[in-house]
Amino acid sequence: MKPIGYQLDLPNLSSPELYLPKPKPFLKWAGGKTQLLEQLAQFFPPSLAAGKITTYVEPFIGSGAVFFYLASQFSIEKFVISDINQELILAYRTIQNSVESLIFYLSELEQRYHALTDSEQEEFFYSTRSAFNLNRATTNYTLPNVERTAQIIFLNRTCYNGLFRVNAKGGFNVPFGSYKNPQICFPRILRDCSAILQRTEIYHGDFSTCRPHVNQNTFVYFDPPYLPISATSSFKSYQVDDFDDLAQIRLANYYAELHSMGAKLMLSNSDPQNINHEDSFFQDLYPNFVIKKVQASRMINSNGEKRGKITELLIMNYESE
Ligand SMILES: C[S@@+](CC[C@H](N)C(=O)[O-])C[C@H]1O[C@@H](n2cnc3c(N)ncnc32)[C@H](O)[C@@H]1O
Repeated sequence: MKPIGYQLDLPNLSSPELYLPKPKPFLKWAGGKTQLLEQLAQFFPPSLAAGKITTYVEPFIGSGAVFFYLASQFSIEKFVISDINQELILAYRTIQNSVESLIFYLSELEQRYHALTDSEQEEFFYSTRSAFNLNRATTNYTLPNVERTAQIIFLNRTCYNGLFRVNAKGGFNVPFGSYKNPQICFPRILRDCSAILQRTEIYHGDFSTCRPHVNQNTFVYFDPPYLPISATSSFKSYQVDDFDDLAQIRLANYYAELHSMGAKLMLSNSDPQNINHEDSFFQDLYPNFVIKKVQASRMINSNGEKRGKITELLIMNYESE
């Protein structure tokens, strides 16, 4: 198996050493799993640590917190990621194929931005956002695109709350965030992500796209949009397409299908019993699988005061101990 590391080009090294990448999400993403990694790690399939998993598949990749974590911790030959959000997939493709051009572009953009006054920065943000939305119609999403990926990263780093949210027409509509000197270019993380993406297949599309890559040596982690845990929750609004109850049912059928193929499966979602103790939506959808509850700290709705300890569900088709 090829090592995932790369040679660091440092002048003072007498013998060049293989640098092992420590990738992490290059975007802040609604529902990102960075805060939950330690809890999730306790429930990964034992066959992963035993070196029996050759392919890792994550069909709702978002910012890829679990993907990047696993890639830096375990020796896995191949990764397959997908998402329905085409802007996100474009960014992964660009980092896979053109990371050095992206770093060059972002570092120039960062210098230019930091030299502006506060009001000029705000103006720059809104003109970048308009250009990003205007160019959507003419973008070829199958090819890497350094300028557009730089804009996505820039907007994600400078917008309010650092989220990626689009309106009904698919336009990015998050307002300016007025942060003091936000870091816009982060070369080490981008290169580390790129190193892992060299052994990753990236697909734009529905979660079912990954079917051909699944076999008994595959671990699949599903992190679909949350079932809303209150009527005012905005956690589902990643983009125009909703992930409604019918989609959850379609996913449960798909989960059962991959189970019959012998793959190891883990799925996370919000726990509806945080709101209603009687709600057995997931217990009914996944009656034959292991369901665990883990503590998570996240906002129950858009009102920051309601942040508190709530539980999330993990649904597995194996015993973790
Ligand atoms: C909870 S987020 C994943 C977060 C991710 N685990 C992370 O750490 O950032 C859910 C993702 O599912 C994607 N999505 C929504 N519907 C989808 C579908 N039908 N097929 C594939 N991806 C979908 C959204 O674009 C979003 O990126």
